[in-house]
Amino acid sequence: MVVAIDGPSGSGKSSVSRGVASALGLAYLDTGAMYRAATWWCLHRGVPLSDVDAVAGQVRTLPLVMGVDPQHPTVHVDGIDVGEAIRTTEISAAVSAVATNLQVRAELGRLQRAEIESARVRGRGIVAEGRDITTVVAPDADVRVLLTASEEARLARRARDVHGSDDAAAVEATRDQVLRRDADDSTVVQFHVAADGVVTVDSSHLDFDQTVQAVLDVVESVVGPR
Ligand code: DC
Repeated sequence: MVVAIDGPSGSGKSSVSRGVASALGLAYLDTGAMYRAATWWCLHRGVPLSDVDAVAGQVRTLPLVMGVDPQHPTVHVDGIDVGEAIRTTEISAAVSAVATNLQVRAELGRLQRAEIESARVRGRGIVAEGRDITTVVAPDADVRVLLTASEEARLARRARDVHGSDDAAAVEATRDQVLRRDADDSTVVQFHVAADGVVTVDSSHLDFDQTVQAVLDVVESVVGPR
């Protein structure tokens, strides 16, 4: 079984996708982490992100290994564990330049389809999450979900993740980054409105467990009880 989950920053997509994968015994692929790893690699190699051809060239030979255990997802580039390095504010600020490079999208999309196919062949199945999984990478997935949340809920979640608080100052400090990145990313992928056949789950008023359950309910309604 392949479950595709898309959504904007702060929708809770990554943690919910991991929860769903764990509950169903599936592998888990964080495609945002792949864009982040590509960004880290280009910066590490001193490639200017504005040079679209040079960036695409680096990504074509990106020595990336994704660990797809939902309890312990890992990201290695050239044998280096970059799990923490790809979450810095430097990478978060730079990643859109790489994610809006169409040659990069084609290359990472190919790697993502290969990961999904390999999980399918091994009979394990996978939850793959990102921005264009339901539409471009795996439009034929068994289950396709768009996880949304109100802007207010998304900013509060991000503020808690990044600053450990969702008071007014923390939300303001997060607002710019979250909204700018979503606006930049929306120029090349559409992830605010569900495509045909994609089920929307709105997590604005749901806690983590309720959101995981809501997605599991969608899975059950599509593929039957497991
Ligand atoms: O979900 P995230 O914040 O880790 O994603 C990192 C960046 O990659 C973000 O700018 C959106 C982009 N992205 C994308 O364009 N397509 C995907 N399938 C996944 C992420």
